[in-house]
Amino acid sequence: MSETRSNSHLYLKALSKRFGSVVAVDNIDLTIDAGQYCCMLGPSGCGKSSTLRMIAGHEHPDSGRIVLGSTDITGQPPAKRGTAMMFQNYALFPHLDCVDNVAFALKMRGVDKPTRREMALQMLERVHMLEQRARKPGQLSGGQQQRVALGRALITEPQLLLLDEPLSALDPYLRIEMRTELKRLQRDLGIAFVHVTHSQEEAMALADMVVVMNEGQIEQAGQPYDVFNRPASVFVAKFIGGHNVIEKDDQIFAVRSDKIRVNRGGDSVIRNIEFLGHTVKLSIQSPATELTVTCADNEFYRGPYETGDPVSLQWNHADQHVLS
Ligand SMILES: Nc1ncnc2c1ncn2[C@@H]1O[C@H](COP(=O)(O)OP(=O)(O)O)[C@@H](O)[C@H]1O
Ligand SMILES: [Mg+2]
Repeated sequence: MSETRSNSHLYLKALSKRFGSVVAVDNIDLTIDAGQYCCMLGPSGCGKSSTLRMIAGHEHPDSGRIVLGSTDITGQPPAKRGTAMMFQNYALFPHLDCVDNVAFALKMRGVDKPTRREMALQMLERVHMLEQRARKPGQLSGGQQQRVALGRALITEPQLLLLDEPLSALDPYLRIEMRTELKRLQRDLGIAFVHVTHSQEEAMALADMVVVMNEGQIEQAGQPYDVFNRPASVFVAKFIGGHNVIEKDDQIFAVRSDKIRVNRGGDSVIRNIEFLGHTVKLSIQSPATELTVTCADNEFYRGPYETGDPVSLQWNHADQHVLS
């Protein structure tokens, strides 16, 4: 990968997209630094795919601009943008083997057969699929198909790789394995990835920058640590999980569920207990609201608590994060 490639940035300026009366993307501004792993996170229908498709050039914005590096790519066709997209369903050609699937974009660009075969084999090696090179998609597992799809997207040497829910078709075990590989690949290549997901955990695990979207707008963009510890809104605190949103004295604030201490006896009641391995999750009905508390397993078993036990809850004032 060349130097110029690793210096490019993506800028979205006042980007909007409507479908009839639906505002899919509502005037968003976003900057993604070179070499960053960006995760766009949000519930179904919040405009993640529409944003990605506009960056890729598969959808034309109603207004706004898209700049990659120093080039305004807003009006350019997909193949000329320096972006590549990996789709949720992989969209591999069923009648082509791995080599020809990966080499397809090179064929379209008129690269001669021996050269494109050589490049495709190198790419298959990079995504650990060299051994299966002669197989067709129907003869591959979901994870293997995904590797081929990745290779096919990366063969064009994009400045930016766009991934729309790339892990959602995989079983939970494979999802975690592939997520580690995606991150490693991104670091090796040194290009920016924009990865759309509705999984908070996935976004937190992968991202240098998390962009939380809601109803076509960006609610918050920042490093995972900051978004988690300083959610900007009630929506972010609830969506990102791990927080209790509490209303008290005309104020709304978030408290992390692992920052609340449980003491025996009091006017709250344990409604439910879930053992999660390292931690135990307690659902607790306090007089005002229902709260979630996560305790370390050793802390829990010092109890141990049972459903129906009366308890009281405590947290440090410093762990209250006021929300807008
Ligand atoms: N081609 C389309 N035609 C009409 N409405 C669409 C189209 N694509 C997306 N939408 C609508 O735009 C909104 C955002 O969709 P989308 O970007 O796919 O959300 P997400 O990927 O976050 O689930 C949704 O209300 C969706 O129904
Ligand atoms: Mg989508």
